[in-house]
Amino acid sequence: MPYAKILSIGSYVPENILTNYDLERIVETSDEWITERSGIKERRIASKDETASILGYKSALKALQKANLDPKDIDLIICATNTPDMQFPATGCLIAGLLNIRVPCFDIQAGCPSVIYALEIARGLIEAKLYKTILLVTTEALSRYLDWTDRSTCVLFGDGASSFILTRSNEPGIISSYLSGDGNLGDLLKFPAGGSKEPASIYTIKNKEHGIRMQGREVFRYAVSYMAESCIKVLEKANMKPEDIDWLVPHQANIRIIDATAEKLNIPKEKVYVNIHKYGNTSAASIGIALDEMIEANLLKRGQNVLIVSFGAGFTWGAIAFRY
Ligand code: UT7
Repeated sequence: MPYAKILSIGSYVPENILTNYDLERIVETSDEWITERSGIKERRIASKDETASILGYKSALKALQKANLDPKDIDLIICATNTPDMQFPATGCLIAGLLNIRVPCFDIQAGCPSVIYALEIARGLIEAKLYKTILLVTTEALSRYLDWTDRSTCVLFGDGASSFILTRSNEPGIISSYLSGDGNLGDLLKFPAGGSKEPASIYTIKNKEHGIRMQGREVFRYAVSYMAESCIKVLEKANMKPEDIDWLVPHQANIRIIDATAEKLNIPKEKVYVNIHKYGNTSAASIGIALDEMIEANLLKRGQNVLIVSFGAGFTWGAIAFRY
């Protein structure tokens, strides 16, 4: 059976930096609190013109360039986003338009693990030989979805995008995957209004329902437990042990969640990639941004085994083991 292999990764983050000190002037918070509780020092904020599709498009161009491909070489676009440009058309279709190609294109939305879910879909389509070369864009314009008066959420998130180009290969690529979810826990992390349940109205605006709402402490507890469980399950499926992994690249939501996950798996800190201090939580985009940085810094090399894992709104969680 062929493998789905990552041919290239590109990422793009907006230029505008918002530091913890800047936030001290917006809400009642402190650099000390944010750093201690989350590990975040600064995050990127998209400019007025940078929508999720634009951020994603910019990362896609970089991935195409690194793979030495033309947009016309792409057979399918999957966009993983929780912060689409609009309800419809799908952000993936807008990106196809920007790339000026006619291909099947759609979005998937599964919280922060959207990247894991999208990679699983791409893998299935490639292994089944339905598509050969897939562009998977993960993009988030979270700053547009935040309530900037809610200090418990607005300090945590940032904007950014990353794109993967996956292709059919005889060499090992994605080795194993594990996905799960529990829809009964959805109330703990949500964006309440603007959908068919609570369409936008004066009432939803007055009640500040157009912003991310999170019960952080509860989410934290589940995240630690399910991220570790996902890693164990995916390694079992791959017939691998934690020591066979060269890199653990977890979703960047909180440094304490990352440390606790690595500790549970007994993976040493040197093998865990962290960049949360620079970008905050970029949801579906965080893992791709991290992987791209690692490749650029010559940390992640061809032939190495990587474990990626995420947890988020839904709740959804999951992990993928792949050979780069
Ligand atoms: O990517 C999707 C998944 N998301 C996550 O994984 C996030 C998971 N949760 C977390 O990362 C953490 O729970 C947070 C970073 C959100 C919060 O850390 P915490 O240690 O769980 O703090 P807390 O929510 O229990 O709040 C502790 C205190 C509260 O005050 P009281 O009630 O103890 O007096 C909050 O009101 O900190 C207060 N607080 C703040 N203080 C200063 C909450 N936000 C802030 C803030 N600045 N920005």
